[in-house]
Amino acid sequence: MTDTKPEHREKGSSVRPLRMLLPFVAPYKGTVVLAIGALLISSAALLAMPMAVRNVIDHGFSVENAANVDRYFFVLLLFSLVIGFFGAARSYFVNWLGERVVADIRDQVFQHVIKMDAEFFEVTKTGEVLSRLTTDTTLIQSISGVGLSIVLRSSIQFVGSLFLLAYTNLKLMGILLLIFPFVVTPVILLGRWLRQLSRETQDRVADASGHASEVLNAVEVVQAFTAEVLESERFGKAIASSFRTAVKRTKVRALFSTVATTCVFGSLIFVLWVGAQGVLAGEITGGELGQFVLYSMFVAVSAGMLTEMWGEVQRAAGAMERLSVLLTLTPTIRAPADPAEFPEQSVGSICFESVSFSYPSRPDLLAVDEFSLDIAPGENIAFVGPSGAGKSTLFQLLLRFFNPTSGRILIDGVDITLAAPEDVRKRLGIVPQETIVFGANAAENIRFGRPDAADEQVMAAARAASAHEFIEQLENGYDTFLGEKGARLSGGQKQRIAIARAILKDPPILLLDEATSSLDAENERLVQAALEFLQKDRTTIVVAHRLATVLHADRIVVIDQGQILDVGRHAELIERNSMYSRMVRLQFGNAHNEEPQLKSAV
Ligand SMILES: Nc1ncnc2c1ncn2[C@@H]1O[C@H](COP(=O)(O)OP(=O)(O)OP(=O)(O)O)[C@@H](O)[C@H]1O
Ligand SMILES: [Mg+2]
Repeated sequence: MTDTKPEHREKGSSVRPLRMLLPFVAPYKGTVVLAIGALLISSAALLAMPMAVRNVIDHGFSVENAANVDRYFFVLLLFSLVIGFFGAARSYFVNWLGERVVADIRDQVFQHVIKMDAEFFEVTKTGEVLSRLTTDTTLIQSISGVGLSIVLRSSIQFVGSLFLLAYTNLKLMGILLLIFPFVVTPVILLGRWLRQLSRETQDRVADASGHASEVLNAVEVVQAFTAEVLESERFGKAIASSFRTAVKRTKVRALFSTVATTCVFGSLIFVLWVGAQGVLAGEITGGELGQFVLYSMFVAVSAGMLTEMWGEVQRAAGAMERLSVLLTLTPTIRAPADPAEFPEQSVGSICFESVSFSYPSRPDLLAVDEFSLDIAPGENIAFVGPSGAGKSTLFQLLLRFFNPTSGRILIDGVDITLAAPEDVRKRLGIVPQETIVFGANAAENIRFGRPDAADEQVMAAARAASAHEFIEQLENGYDTFLGEKGARLSGGQKQRIAIARAILKDPPILLLDEATSSLDAENERLVQAALEFLQKDRTTIVVAHRLATVLHADRIVVIDQGQILDVGRHAELIERNSMYSRMVRLQFGNAHNEEPQLKSAV
């Protein structure tokens, strides 16, 4: 978050990015027209008010016109009704627009971000995306709602009042214009300083909350390493620093209002004094002076509002710019213009043709190196290899989260880089290495595999995954909330939920990344049974960490440093491949004891 800020700050003075709001406002032309209409009517009434006041002063108080007094005041009352009603209407329509536009922007940003590729999420912190979705859109909300309303009203008031001032009395207007710079300059300078300070405060707050969210997300680790005091101190420091900036800002704000009030009222009183001389000398009427003073106040108030809002407008422009940068990013993994079609009925064949790949964040390391493998439909393949060999990476490539640096991957005979990512992923089911359970209930978590599945189908999948029993035992069965990230389940239970999800999706090709964490014997047996059910009648690739899995496989692929070392069945490999036999010994631990059994099993 912090790294993108400075460059945007440099451009902060430009409000041009706000033009990018136009396409979002465009669909609501009707409301825009209503808002502008209400604005014009209420502004006109407001600007006419001083003239009415002038008439009251000049004619209303003379004895011969006594009959008119009621009329004048009635007109004044009408004006204030118009101002009140249309002012409220303007405010309503503009705020409605603001809320609508921001809701649309949020929608669009989320829809866009969720389609971004793995590379994007590798370099972008989720916290930053979240802050764009919430903080930046809120900034825009304030400007496109209340802010815009104030800016529009004040601009019209400012310009209108200036014209009417000139119309009322040119000489007084001249004096006012002469002293104007002396009033405005200090106000603007202080205002700038103030804005800078409030940005600083916000940065400090953002630092502190960024730090807090990072720590809270990993609170278990913090507590396990008893780093609570240290982390609290760090947070405390960030808070203290934000407090200091805030106090400084408050001081400048106090100074600002002192100077602004003194200058504005001082100059008004001065003009009033000059005007009073004029009235005494019979050059102008009392009503004229009253009218003039009212217009000068309008000018002062609207000028003050505009300078106040200017900072807001700039911040909103910065936010809009950041958002539109986000919106213009296109994922590198996307459907080509004319995506290749997969055969209607999936066969489930996979072919790696000398695939090489390095992660964008580590271009010097070949995570997959000239990998070639043909997998026949229905085959059960096991990937075996040390940690970091590239097994999970091969799954990422199959799911087209990344494109291979060179070589091709074919599924059902189609090069997946030429197909739409959704079409590829529809054919694949994955039970990932780290099980993801959402903060929803059990049924919803399983139904994630196929949103339109009926309750019976969800239960059938759970049964097949050996998950039905433990789900039934939860306090509300399938309706039980599983806690954030499935915090209320054991590792093995989470896995079985993930397997049920894959069973429900019923994909032609199944990718299984077995977790290295060892399950207890009972859980292991249950998960194994679920997996065997899943592997029936479909192509499966399993990253094997369990002996039972490799025994099961039609072919075992031994992988190291992204390369294939050997391919064969367990019995062959254990004879001829030293790495494999060593791994079996180390990873599956008790393999030795089971060896006699194994031989008969294979
Ligand atoms: N997102 C990533 N960015 C950069 N490098 C990565 C990324 N993910 C994995 N790697 C690197 O790629 C290599 C292969 O990692 P991979 O996750 O495929 O290993 P693995 O065989 O699944 O290991 P394990 O058995 O521990 O799960 C490793 O050297 C790893 O450090
Ligand atoms: Mg892995």
